Amino acid sequence: MSDTQENTIVDVTDWYDAGRAESIPMDAALVLPLMPPVAVYHIEDGYFASDDTCSHSEYSLGDGWIEDGTVECELHAAKFDIKTGAALSLPATEPVATYPVAVIDGQLFVDLRMREGCIVEKLRG
Ligand code: FES
Repeated sequence: MSDTQENTIVDVTDWYDAGRAESIPMDAALVLPLMPPVAVYHIEDGYFASDDTCSHSEYSLGDGWIEDGTVECELHAAKFDIKTGAALSLPATEPVATYPVAVIDGQLFVDLRMREGCIVEKLRG
């Protein structure tokens, strides 16, 4: 598990509430309807979040193929490391941004406070 998974004491007051952890099956992702969207992945090592938009072109990574901690974009097959956001294969050469995730009593929280333009504040109006 990452350092912000279940059983870690984290103040999630200003984190984005992404819903119930059990709603994301193993090796699947939930795409949060933000602008731009965020993908929350459930893999063997826990829950991880990144920008959903592929760094190669505009396509949803959360709709991609998830296996062994990587996600493969369905459009041109670039692979990304889900934990780090690193681009692992062409045609993508740039990483996608990742965000800390905490699981508290089965509820998922994503720390988007440092996201460009402070997206959480914008969403809360
Ligand atoms: S849009 Fe993802 S690899 Fe091209």
